Amino acid sequence: MDVFDKCAVNMGPLGIYAQQAEGYYMFPKLEGELSNRMIFQGKERLVWSLNNYLGLGNHPEVRKVDAEAAKDWGLAYPMGARMMSGHTSYHEELEKQLAAFVGRESAYLLNYGYQGMVSIINAMVDRKDVIVYDGGAHACIIDGMRLHFGKRFVYPHNNMENLEKELKRATRIVEKTGGGILVITEGVYGMAGDLGNLKDIVALKKKFKFRLFIDDAHGFGTMGPTGAGTDEHFGVQDEVDLYFGTFAKSMAGIGGFVAARKDVIKYLQYNMRSQVYAKSLPMPMVIGSLKRLELIKNEPEHRENLWKIVHALQNGLKEKGLNLGLTQSPVTPVMLNGTVGEATQLTYDLRENYNIFCSIVIYPVVPKGIMLLRLIPTAVHTLEDVDYTVKAFAEVKYKLENKKYSEDLKEVPNHQPG
Ligand SMILES: Cc1ncc(COP(=O)(O)O)c(C=O)c1O
Repeated sequence: MDVFDKCAVNMGPLGIYAQQAEGYYMFPKLEGELSNRMIFQGKERLVWSLNNYLGLGNHPEVRKVDAEAAKDWGLAYPMGARMMSGHTSYHEELEKQLAAFVGRESAYLLNYGYQGMVSIINAMVDRKDVIVYDGGAHACIIDGMRLHFGKRFVYPHNNMENLEKELKRATRIVEKTGGGILVITEGVYGMAGDLGNLKDIVALKKKFKFRLFIDDAHGFGTMGPTGAGTDEHFGVQDEVDLYFGTFAKSMAGIGGFVAARKDVIKYLQYNMRSQVYAKSLPMPMVIGSLKRLELIKNEPEHRENLWKIVHALQNGLKEKGLNLGLTQSPVTPVMLNGTVGEATQLTYDLRENYNIFCSIVIYPVVPKGIMLLRLIPTAVHTLEDVDYTVKAFAEVKYKLENKKYSEDLKEVPNHQPG
């Protein structure tokens, strides 16, 4: 056998759709300025699928600072990993400001959120420790746990009774091994928009001894009175022991950070392998992130605009009878019943006839028979965009319920899956 044989035979769970879906549903090209309207396949579309929550991606000051930093420093500087030759006062300054913003003693930058998360988990636990995690955890959390030699227990998404059961099991184990327990949840769940049950999880600290780690990729910058995150929203910052945020969403950049007690961050600084053994964030990313953070702190209007659009969109869709599940964040999932074929038809109708571009999630990511259209409102959307979209969704819902898409299925164009 040749290790390359699988490439022709088994493309993997997502790759199986490549032939039919690539270029349209998967790897679509969105062109033009990052905004509420972009070009897809030569036509302008109303875009609801960018995590550019605060609209900072195209903010003139951000663009200016990004460009100036690239001119002054280039993309190469600093060369090397932080520990060896990639450390600067700008990196330190950003860490200081991030820690203060999320109400922690200390913070450390991550050159990518995903790898950072993997290494935080890897560094934080050893074979004596037990991880207890939410079943809805993002792939980066799962990959971090794959490196863990000790036990790990999963509880069904946000199910506190089960979490308690798993904490009892974990406690029995660590009493024998002499290890500790790390509970991992997300702040905002990026697909369904619901929140990790932080208040109840924190309350369990009265009964069990554990440390709480949250991945707040979608909550940082969007949730809480100052945008400091989902733990700020719940008023439990002091009880969340480790806080992870990415720059890839509300900050419209790349990279991320972890924040915690000073000694914990110092330990991570020396033990997160993806940071110790990989190049540090380039200067334009660091200087650009300082600018973004300044705007998040000093221009609350971006968050206010975001939430104005979120409320208008979510209320409008609900009034038309659309099911948005349990979202309590900007993430707006529209759940409809239908086959994979109907889902692709409906999405095609939205894109081609209504010029609305949003992401579609189907089985196996969601249960069979469900399609999830995921809308991400941003500060740069308008109330007109919302009205137009709400009307369009009411129409496609009607068509779906009246079997319009299953009839259309006979004329599926080549590039469509299903
Ligand atoms: C919940 C969650 N955690 C972590 C990440 C990874 O972050 P990054 O894109 O910075 O690698 C993402 C996605 O981007 C995410 O949605």
